[in-house]
Amino acid sequence: MKTNGESSLKHRSWEAVSAILTNLYGKMPEPRIAKLKKLFLLAAFSAKDGVIVELGTWHAAGTIALALGSKVGNNLPVYTVDTYTYRVGWASEVYTQADKDVAVSMVFKAGVDDIVTFVQMDTDKALSKWKLPIGLWFWDLGIDQGSKELVLYDDFMKWEKHIMPGGYAFLRDTYDRRFGSAYALQNLSGFSVIENNPGILVLKKDE
Ligand SMILES: C[S@@+](CC[C@H](N)C(=O)[O-])C[C@H]1O[C@@H](n2cnc3c(N)ncnc32)[C@H](O)[C@@H]1O
Repeated sequence: MKTNGESSLKHRSWEAVSAILTNLYGKMPEPRIAKLKKLFLLAAFSAKDGVIVELGTWHAAGTIALALGSKVGNNLPVYTVDTYTYRVGWASEVYTQADKDVAVSMVFKAGVDDIVTFVQMDTDKALSKWKLPIGLWFWDLGIDQGSKELVLYDDFMKWEKHIMPGGYAFLRDTYDRRFGSAYALQNLSGFSVIENNPGILVLKKDE
């Protein structure tokens, strides 16, 4: 059954979703919880149309928060992009091929496999084929160790043409200048800043 906004909040509140995520992933650090809560709320109450895109799946916690939010809101399909190849992130975290199996199994356990599509490719390749209008775009690629480039801002500029008027972008890792948020904000046009807190930058495309 398609559910809608505030009336279903009682039944599908963040607290309920947080319990599902804790059950799947165990206790998580506060910044991660804040990210997941923001994803749930944006998907449930902000994204109105189009599709939801997540860049960077890892073990799919964000994917599940988005998908559960979408089910409270407008049932928008969720596309999540990851190569699932070996990488070392900026905090020395290691990503491997095995992450895909974990992600698929978590999405299945959370009961959101009906609206989630895994896109296994590099984000630039996904972008080169992209056709669907985006109502909520989420950047969570992390930064490769040693990278000094403004990757986040570059990716946002490459994808933003696909974000619908009135659509949202949530950029992660915006607390450090070298990751791009300060630069992105200086050069922002066609978007309004909805929230700018450490780790969370939410933009809305002008209608
Ligand atoms: C920080 S994790 C994603 C966390 C996830 N969104 C969550 O909420 O738990 C970053 C992921 O981005 C993927 N990644 C990094 N660069 C990528 C690229 N250029 N194309 C596709 N995936 C990439 C890595 O493989 C890794 O799984």
